[in-house]
This record gives sequence, C-alpha cells and structure tokens, in this order.
Amino acid sequence: MCGITGYIGYRDAYPIIINGLKRLEYRGYDSAGVMLFDGTQINLSKTKGKVSVLEEKVNNEISNKGVIGIGHTRWATHGVPNDVNSHPHISQSGNLVIVHNGIIENYNTLKQELKTRGYTFKSDTDTEVLINLIEEIKTEHNVKLGKAVQIALNQVVGAYAIAVFDKTNPDEIVVARLGSPIAIGVGKDLKEFFIASDASPFIEYTKDAIYLEDEEMAIICQGKEVKVRKIKDDTLVDTDVQELQMNLEQIEKGGYEHFMLKEIYEQPRAIIDTYRGRLLREKGIIKMSGVEDNMGKFLNAERIVIVACGTSWHAALVAEYLFEDFARIPVEVEYASEFRYRNPVLTEKDIVIAISQSGETADTLAAIKLAKERGAFVFGVCNVVGSSIARETHAGAYTHAGPEIGVASTKAFTTQITVLSLMALRLARAKGTMSSSKYRHYLQELELIPQKVESLLKVDDHIKEIAKKYMLSNNCLYLGRGYNFPVALEGALKLKEISYIHAEGYPAAEMKHGPIALIDDRMPVIVIATSKGHYDKVVSNIQEIKSRSGKIIAVVTEGDTIVREIADHVIEVPETEEAFTPLLTTIPLQLLSYHIAVMRNCNVDQPRNLAKSVTVE
Ligand code: F6R
Repeated sequence: MCGITGYIGYRDAYPIIINGLKRLEYRGYDSAGVMLFDGTQINLSKTKGKVSVLEEKVNNEISNKGVIGIGHTRWATHGVPNDVNSHPHISQSGNLVIVHNGIIENYNTLKQELKTRGYTFKSDTDTEVLINLIEEIKTEHNVKLGKAVQIALNQVVGAYAIAVFDKTNPDEIVVARLGSPIAIGVGKDLKEFFIASDASPFIEYTKDAIYLEDEEMAIICQGKEVKVRKIKDDTLVDTDVQELQMNLEQIEKGGYEHFMLKEIYEQPRAIIDTYRGRLLREKGIIKMSGVEDNMGKFLNAERIVIVACGTSWHAALVAEYLFEDFARIPVEVEYASEFRYRNPVLTEKDIVIAISQSGETADTLAAIKLAKERGAFVFGVCNVVGSSIARETHAGAYTHAGPEIGVASTKAFTTQITVLSLMALRLARAKGTMSSSKYRHYLQELELIPQKVESLLKVDDHIKEIAKKYMLSNNCLYLGRGYNFPVALEGALKLKEISYIHAEGYPAAEMKHGPIALIDDRMPVIVIATSKGHYDKVVSNIQEIKSRSGKIIAVVTEGDTIVREIADHVIEVPETEEAFTPLLTTIPLQLLSYHIAVMRNCNVDQPRNLAKSVTVE
C-alpha cells in the first residue's frame, strides 16, 4: 500500500506532487508528506492525516518552491500513523531522502547493524532503516546514489517501490521496485519526468510511461533518457515506453459527490466496455483471445482453482456457479492468503484463475507465483492494465471497468462477473455442455444487462428512503441462495466497510443453523429473493424471519407479489436468467450501503483503516 509521487523538471514540483498524492490517496491515507529541493536546501513537511492536512502544514511551515521533489501518502505497516513515522524519511546526515511503499522484512537485523555504526533512529519504520543503509553504503564505498541504492537493495528482504533523492547530487531521483508498482511519466523532449505508484498523478502532463518490472531500478535525470537496470547485476533492460489509455475525466468525480457513487452509476457503461468486441451476439459467438489461445489447456483442465481476496473473492464464488453450471468444470474457490500458505495440491492439469481489480494484491500475487511453481497454468482477470498480476499470469482477460478510485469495489465486481460469465459461456460451447440455442439466448440476455442496470439505477430514491430507516442499525444480516449467496456476502462487505455497521452474509438456508438466533425487531435482514433462484425456499426463509419480528428488505424480480405481502420493503430488479442476476441484485445493495454511509457521515471513498490496493500480506 502507500502511494508515492515525484517530479523532476522545470515546473513547480509542489502542485504536481500534492495533486498526485490526492489521486493516490486510495492507496492509503493515514499520513502524508512531501520533500522539495529549492536549489539550496531540502524543505520537508509530513504529518499524520490526509493530504489536505499536509497542504495546510506546508502552507504554514515550509517554502513550497523547487522543481524537484518527492511525496508520499501512507497506509501504516511499521509504526503507528504519526508525524514522525510519516514519509519522506531523511538519512542521518540530512542529505538523503526517501519515500517507500512496501515492507523491508529484515529491517530489524539491518537496524541493529547500523546502530553499531553510530546510527540513531527517530521513527519506528523500516524505511528509515533503508535510507540509512543507503547512506552507510554510499559513504563506505564512496559511490554515487544509484550505486548505493543498488548495493543496499541487494541486502534487503521484502517488497518496495522507492524514490530516493540526494542533496549532494540534486539533479536526479533514483527509483526501484520489487513487489510494489512504480510508473515513470516521460515528459516532452525529456525535459521533465514524473514518478508515481500509478499513472493517475501525471495523466494531464504526458501519455508516455515506463512501468518498472520487479527487481528493476532507474536513475531519472532531466534531459537524459531513462535507462532501466536489473538491481541484481546492473544489466541494462530494454526500456518499453507505453502509451497510456487513461484520461483525466476517468479519474475525476464528474459531478458526483463521491467516487463510489460515480462508479456505481458507471456500471452500465463499464459492463458494455467489458463485453465489447467479445460478445458478438449477431454472429452468435464469444471471442476472448486469452481463452482461444489456450483452449487446449481449458478443455483438458481437470479442475479450475480460483484465487482472490475480498470483493474479487466474491466474484470468484459467482464464477464457481457459472463454470460448474455452464461448462461442467469442477471449481474450487480459495482465499489467496490461505491458499499460499496451505501447501495446496496442484498439478499441471489444474488451471488457476486469479481475480484482482488492482492487479497488485500481495496475497493474490503470491498465490500466482506458488501456482506457477507447481506447474499450473495461471489466467488473470484484472482491471489495471500492465499491473503486476496482469504481467505475472500466463494469459488473461482484462475487465474494462476504467479506474476504480472509491476504496469499496463496485464496478470492479460487476465487470469481473461479466468477464467470468463470458469465459464460462465460451467454455460451455467449446465443451458442448450447452446447446447452441441456449447459448444464443444467454448471449442475448447478457447483452441486455447494461440497460437493466440503467433502469435499476432509477430506483435510487426509493433505496435512499429505505436507507433512512436503517441508518442507525448496529447489525444487519444478508441472505441469498445459489448465484445470489455471493451477492449476500458482497452486500454485507459493502455495508461494513463503508458504514462500520456489523453485517454478515449467509446462504439463506444456513440461517436456521445459527444466525436465526440474532433475529429480533431491531435486526434488518436483506434477502435476495429473485423469481428463479430457489424462490419458494427463500420465501420460506423470509417467513421464518417475519415470525421472529425481523425487518425484511427484499430484493425481488419485477412483478413479484408474494414477497411483497410479507416484506417490510421490496426493491425490484428486472427479470433475467438466474446466472446473471448477481449483475442486477448487487446494484441496490451497493446503493443501500452508500446512502447509509453518507447518512452516518462516514468517509465513503476512504473508509477508516482501509486502502484500495493491499500490497502487503
Ligand atoms: C472491498 C474491496 C476489497 C478488495 C480486495 C481485493 O470493497 O475493495 O475487499 O476487493 O482488497 O483487491 P483486488 O481486487 O484489487 O485484488
């Protein structure tokens, strides 16, 4: 986690860095800091709190002049969030400054060694150890910053994306990565360079970007081409300058009060973008190059294992139903964090699918590496183009959701399900487990989903009214069956992460095995009761809640009359095939959580203790 930014060029670095940090706040927001070099001295300011707090501090404390600087927004790992532990960290001599995203695992050993050589430490962080290690090496070996960074990183165990500045050679910034992302924006005629955890901080300045791979570093110097080297042995790497597809509009709120709301409303467009060019209804086919190119592997697979975390794990559960139902391939869904430490049985006949919005989740990445070591073919479903997971997997399919900035995932979930539905259908056709008429019907139904989501968004005011009634609840239960069991889990996750109300998701039939004891007249129960998915059984579950005075908010298919009679509130979703209902039933649950969180004055886009991409295990 953590976001880093940097600038070296001819413009004022401060506004570029501070705006960049605001865009990267999704990566962490418990403290922030900036270092600017004004040509003579280092001006450094850092503070607990968000980037807006840092801005005030900079205004009151330091000169914000200078054409070179680095900045950081933090999600604490080592050391509590406070002013001292905030980045940038400065070396003992006061000459070297660093911002760091990641964890140095052997920091304690290194710290003890440095202490014996006279170093003292102000903070509890691993990063302060790293900058002093670099300083010690620079002095001891009498080398320039780049070399010192390289030697130091060869002694370090852990993960990092770093940007380092040296006052004694102030024309360059050294960057390096292992496990945490770093992008370098290349300005026109090499007159300026931008450094950031992703390209969003520099999108309005340049479309040319270099993404460092793991174990690579670069010395960035105005007017000089960026040369990327291997940290291990200093060999030069071919530098690939990529053209960015992202635009400024995509990363701004566009008139919405919050990114989360904007992203909920973007779902019709995001789903279309995700199936565009893949779902060719008129031809009656699905084209997905990542699947076509590896069809032999998919057809011979004895099993698919899906690894993911959080919301992406919920999408994986939907995929389990889809792949088994459509293509008759056995599926296991694993939390990436458990899978990687469980010595799982994997063979070359297994396909591992890794799902991740950010493409940077450390546990998912580690699970991929393990699966590859065991000989499995690994397929990625990612949103962020060029992300670590996209690069680490053998093949994959992007969701084209566009940048997701709200910390709570919304459009990532529905676009992941879209990609997974396309895959399941394509494999069903290839395996002959679905008739061609049924296949065509499903293509038609999937194509109609965006307009159904659009119509569903129109009932937002009704959902807001329901939210008003339950905004003060302390607990909430979400129930669903079949394809909508994962939706119940996702609904509960959305509510707890942004409104801090305790919520649990359960398969509806499991309620009687325990959770029913929780039900009383203060317990709102959100039940997904669409017409095709074990409807009668869910209606019985609703009756059971009713007889214990629970408050029922039911998500039903348009025209439902039975549940309407029993439930306290109903939210209708348009009719579709059961397999695609998660793409619809999720939407009201996202909106309900959103409105409750807003009414409770919670920070919807940046909930406490969370970060958008979890690059630590
Ligand atoms: C919940 C949420 C998280 C992420 C999880 C995985 O709203 O956003 O649970 O889904 O951290 O992240 P990715 O998909 O980036 O691997």
